[in-house]
Amino acid sequence: MKMRISALTALCLTVLFCGCAKGDEPVLKDAFAKQFLMGAALNDDVVSGKDAQAAAIVEKHFNTITPENVMKWAVIHPETNRYDFAAADRLVEFGQKNKMFIIGHTLVWQNQIPDGAFKDDSNNLLGRDAMLGRMKDHIFTVMGRYKGKVNGWDVVNEALSDEGTLRKTKWLETVGDDFIVKAFEYAHEADPNAELYYNDFSLDKPAKCEATARLVKDLKAKGLRIDGVGIQGHWGMNYPSREDLQAFIDAMAAAGVKVMVTELDIDVLPSANQYRGADINVKVELQKELNPYANGLPDEMQKKLADRYAELFGILVKNADKIDRVTFWGVYDKTTWLNNWPVRGRTSYPLLFDRDYKPKPAFDAVIKTAPAK
Ligand code: G3I
Repeated sequence: MKMRISALTALCLTVLFCGCAKGDEPVLKDAFAKQFLMGAALNDDVVSGKDAQAAAIVEKHFNTITPENVMKWAVIHPETNRYDFAAADRLVEFGQKNKMFIIGHTLVWQNQIPDGAFKDDSNNLLGRDAMLGRMKDHIFTVMGRYKGKVNGWDVVNEALSDEGTLRKTKWLETVGDDFIVKAFEYAHEADPNAELYYNDFSLDKPAKCEATARLVKDLKAKGLRIDGVGIQGHWGMNYPSREDLQAFIDAMAAAGVKVMVTELDIDVLPSANQYRGADINVKVELQKELNPYANGLPDEMQKKLADRYAELFGILVKNADKIDRVTFWGVYDKTTWLNNWPVRGRTSYPLLFDRDYKPKPAFDAVIKTAPAK
């Protein structure tokens, strides 16, 4: 009897200290429970039940989700007078069923939006007032539907250039310089309890970082709500530098907002060009040398990727008081957007789970950066 009790005690201790039963992998959201929420962007196959193995990973490891595509204007509001909520509803139901923190992505963006959204019935570009009316209708309709269910919104996405100026988009052209201000104003009116974020890539670049800090301060000075800035985290093996990432985190803290790492993936493939952002309009032709790991990632590269993840998570953990959330842009390598950008048809390896849904060495490396509880 005595032996039986001590064996049981040993098992309990193992479970307690490892945070998992024998043979089972550690759980990301538990490992970082005291640091930040851990999340993933989901496509419709994950929530609809078509990709049940991916759904199982999400249910086990993540406590926050972002729709990869289904809340974008082109999907949820395909024609001026027609909304289609079917896929977005599925995602929200999935998140609610699993008690997850749900992010709405995204309300105001220049991509994945029909051209017609900016035009009148005669195909002319709308004027400022008409376009603001359309923006407001979109924000109120989409946020209104998910009020109290979606917890935070990427209100404006990718409005800044790498030089820190406003990008030349249809939003800027139709509404004018204050389209970001108006979007945040409407979003807060539509759901006063929702967290509101500005989201962009390459925010570690000094000029863009400074422009973002200015934007945050300007919104706050106007009395508007902004809770956080999402740094997309489409990162590479040698960017961002530790210093630039730290400078961005510090700049956001000084501006009075939380940092969210919103679209994390690390590209191990050779660069197709000099460009290192995430603008989906950048395209490069497929050439064999750009796709060197079509038959699998060599161990040496797995290790390099794991080391790079460890380096970046080390910085995130050190700054956990300034960071609310870390969201991967996808669940596993087979369905990452990087298989098709900037080159279509490559075999990419940017996430923590491989094509067979198995955790990679990068997964273990990330877990190891979690502080002891
Ligand atoms: O749904 C259509 C399908 O009906 C059609 O047959 C097919 C033909 O190409 O296209 C499908 O739509 C594609 C959609 O993804 C869903 O797969 C679009 O062409 C394609 O452009 C779209 O790409 C998405 C991209 O944003 C543009 O919206 C990527 O999946 C998504 O990962 C990417 O995510 C963005 C973030 O929202 C913002 N930050 C950068 C990030 C990466 O580009």
